[in-house]
Amino acid sequence: MSHSQCYPFINTPLPYEYSALEPYIDEKTMHLHHDRHLQTYIDRLNAILKDHPRLQSWTLEKLLQNWCILSCDLKVPVRNNAGGVYNHQFFFDSLTPHCPFLPSLHLVQEIHSQFCGFDRFLTLFKESALAVFGSGYAWLVLEKRRLKIITTANQNTPNLQMQTPIFNIDVWEHAYYLKHYNERAAYVDDWFQVLDWKKADERFEGAMM
Ligand SMILES: [Fe+2]
Repeated sequence: MSHSQCYPFINTPLPYEYSALEPYIDEKTMHLHHDRHLQTYIDRLNAILKDHPRLQSWTLEKLLQNWCILSCDLKVPVRNNAGGVYNHQFFFDSLTPHCPFLPSLHLVQEIHSQFCGFDRFLTLFKESALAVFGSGYAWLVLEKRRLKIITTANQNTPNLQMQTPIFNIDVWEHAYYLKHYNERAAYVDDWFQVLDWKKADERFEGAMM
């Protein structure tokens, strides 16, 4: 995902084939999720910004860090749609068909240390993902050089001025309903299998520098 992108936002291709995450995340879900759900947020965000030239040079991050100072008619639409774009791009960019889980990664060692064991972290993260009521996301973020599991509702994002996202899971039903129906727990288990630990480690290392 490009941090320098601004209006008009475009739907960049996935960094892997739609079918690449099979059997964990099915091809049809990836098509619908990327080509329709994410595209809709991009289209809405562009439509909102079309008549506001002052905001057209703002990146997604700037929109998300400053939506609360926008005029009343723009606040909620910008937060929802810029959030929808950011959260989805981050989600897709956090996955890989190559599953490069490496216990030696600095991030994995830090998780082990801060959460009293890697398995305990996985349990806590899954519990958080399951605890999101309705639609939203669970995240691993870095705040003041400490890792934290947080959740956000709807298309809200982490506080990007305080927190550096490391990875997220989209727990809106559209992310898993075709394969898992209402079984979010089974989806979370599958999602763990395609999480890009190397990318997550790069984000962690970048934020710790
Ligand atoms: Fe989604």
